[in-house]
Amino acid sequence: MSLGENQRLAGLGQSEIRAMTLACTQANGINMAQGVCDTGVPPVVIDEAKQAMDQGFNTYTRFDGLTELREALAQRMRTFNYMTVNPETDVTVSAGATGAFHCVCMGLLQPGDEVIIFEPYYGYHLSTILAVEAVPIIISLRGSDWSLSLDDLERVITGRTKAIVVNTPGNPSGKVFTTQELEGIAAVARQHDLFIFTDEIYEYFVYDNQEHVSMAALPGMADRTITISGYSKTFSITGWRIGHAVAAPRWSSMIGAMNDLVYVCAPAPLQYGVAMGIQILDAAFYQELRRSFQRKRDRFCQVLQDIGLSPTIPQGAYYVLADVRRLSGTTGKERAMYVLEKSGVAAVPGEAFFQGDKGASYVRFSFAKTDEDLDVACERLQSLR
Ligand SMILES: Cc1ncc(COP(=O)(O)O)c(C=O)c1O
Repeated sequence: MSLGENQRLAGLGQSEIRAMTLACTQANGINMAQGVCDTGVPPVVIDEAKQAMDQGFNTYTRFDGLTELREALAQRMRTFNYMTVNPETDVTVSAGATGAFHCVCMGLLQPGDEVIIFEPYYGYHLSTILAVEAVPIIISLRGSDWSLSLDDLERVITGRTKAIVVNTPGNPSGKVFTTQELEGIAAVARQHDLFIFTDEIYEYFVYDNQEHVSMAALPGMADRTITISGYSKTFSITGWRIGHAVAAPRWSSMIGAMNDLVYVCAPAPLQYGVAMGIQILDAAFYQELRRSFQRKRDRFCQVLQDIGLSPTIPQGAYYVLADVRRLSGTTGKERAMYVLEKSGVAAVPGEAFFQGDKGASYVRFSFAKTDEDLDVACERLQSLR
């Protein structure tokens, strides 16, 4: 084996999302590919983080996070998620939800364990499972509302199945799992003694008066559910790298050990800023977030409809999969490049979220843009009519 050979890297390839971002910069286009929230950071979050630096929050925190943040999260999860969370034993603050998910996979999975994920999937979930040498088992969600067949789920379970990944609201589908679907998945997990890893990073982006439901709040599910989330999206601080995993103490200690090993801790003053944001921002902030993103969704989906790129209307998160089969090209990549060249708007090719050739039909747009950028994007997309 040569020095440069690495099995782990071979499975990853370059992220399609980053590749499109690069192509977009070269074309001087509007980047609707990456889920970077361009909207503003709540001023209180910034102010408190700055003050934290002045006040000396500049050294390592506890490996599982600053007390203020663990307590703020536990309190918030009690009232919003209906979860009972002990801030001393159940929380690991990590380097974003990404770091949290990685520590969960490193801490709780062994090589060869099978982990079920639903397609369309978030690429990092797939890649992280592969990176820890576990085996992703992919189940396709069906129809225009991406519904789940429990028969499909039951069918793939083997003696090696260890966990099911649920992402609600989902990226890229915008699917918000119904309580009935979550209960169905929960019953399967209980019957076969499986973990559920839920990624709830878009928990505050839920539209049409629907409610976000946390798997861990369902009866009997707190012990086997690992809840991953964070404020990267809610506070538009994707660059701060603060996220968390919440689990029963015995799992939390394993996740925390991995977090300590890889990150030592998350950035101290930024943890403080997030903690104060959670404490200080009231219901009006979260309501306005939902309302403004629902407006962006409605507006952007209408444009997609008008230009004949039928959108699957997302119920949550801030992405939309558009049907691009009528455009020139045979792959999602060719069609995304066509969209970029013709309109100057970048989207992610469907291949990033599907196995085989299913991704050829779709590109994904992120509508987490300022209203001004959205105006320009909507105008430019008219050239695809
Ligand atoms: C489903 C999902 N989970 C996690 C993340 C990353 O979150 P963080 O920035 O907190 O690592 C993203 C970002 O796009 C996402 O879409």
